[in-house]
Amino acid sequence: MTLLTDKFFDSFASSVKPTEEAETLPPEIYTSQEFYEFEKDALFYREWLCVGRDEWIAEVGDFFTTSHANEPIIISRGRDGEIKAMSAVCQHRAMLVAEGKGNTRGFTCPYHHWSYDLDGKLVGAPAMGRTCNFDKAQYNLPKLKVELWHGFIFVNFDPEAESLASRMGPIEPVVANYEFASLRGPEPLSHEYPWNWKVQFENNNDGYHASRLHQGLHDFVPSSLASFPEVPRETAGYYRLNGSTHPNASFNPTEKALLPVFPKLTEEEQSRLLFVNLPPTLSLVVLNDVVIYLIMDARSPTTHGLTFGSLYHPSAFEDPEFEEKRRINDEHTADIVAQDLHVDLLVQQGLSSRFAPRGRYSWQEDAQRQLNVWLVDRYQQEWDRRRGPSAPVPRLHATS
Ligand code: FES
Repeated sequence: MTLLTDKFFDSFASSVKPTEEAETLPPEIYTSQEFYEFEKDALFYREWLCVGRDEWIAEVGDFFTTSHANEPIIISRGRDGEIKAMSAVCQHRAMLVAEGKGNTRGFTCPYHHWSYDLDGKLVGAPAMGRTCNFDKAQYNLPKLKVELWHGFIFVNFDPEAESLASRMGPIEPVVANYEFASLRGPEPLSHEYPWNWKVQFENNNDGYHASRLHQGLHDFVPSSLASFPEVPRETAGYYRLNGSTHPNASFNPTEKALLPVFPKLTEEEQSRLLFVNLPPTLSLVVLNDVVIYLIMDARSPTTHGLTFGSLYHPSAFEDPEFEEKRRINDEHTADIVAQDLHVDLLVQQGLSSRFAPRGRYSWQEDAQRQLNVWLVDRYQQEWDRRRGPSAPVPRLHATS
């Protein structure tokens, strides 16, 4: 029996009410294969998806591979110095033409040696001279749209997608002084986790658990000082602010920034943390001396990949004690992350239960309601597309 019915989508309406009235989204959207396939059309093939950082491919020929929603992707630096994004699927018989990362003059498929340049153009196809009507120009690697946002590379499978920059306006003033594009960091860690990508996203999103689950580790950034500014509904994401009990608070035993504070921050910015969420793939935890980024790539209803990295002001690397200070920060953060991972694993189990709830929210969970709005707009749009021309006008561009 199909999950996707009008009644099911109508039931989402209670999740986008004001937070004090709202309830959580149906548990099935975290567990169902059918819904995951629906999400590909609703979200992953339409939205801007973060794949990594500009500095990972600093030189011509640098490349890395990744995936979103099971689509293998190559990101490369072309001969013109521009970032390119393309499918990694060979247009001969679907072998992946690249794995991992490196520097190359082009991509030669290991199977039969069709070769593509850094833009994905097919430049060589051995022993194809006798093949009728074979036009090399028809077999380039499919291109993806690509856009850079303050050093973060985003791709989009939809050739008609509106630019990311045009949908980031309300977030720009909030992030400006952190100068994300100039920040640098060590190689991130990547793991696959056995829970739905939204469980991860909601955990990153959640101010409510900070003073509870992380009691003793997070007390200087208490849940009671969370605030949730509204942004226009068509914005690509949203953000949360969380006041701290003292300036330049940071997650380490001193509870203060150990590394250089971003130099342009105002006094007000130094008295809080910033959480930026660009669903469905990027969450930023923005402290005043480090930006932690989490890039999620959905792989199934119950698995996703997570790339977890940190960025610092360039002057941080001149400090002879940088590595030691970073280790102290990372050890403290690791304790918090371990608590989150344990919860995420068990939440996924709970969501599969016959007793999984449609729960209610605290005011400190307003960011969950913001995510619900972001999701439900897009779910409803896709459902309307599938139902055809008699369907109601999509609500995505309505103002909140
Ligand atoms: Fe790539 Fe044959 S599958 S060359």
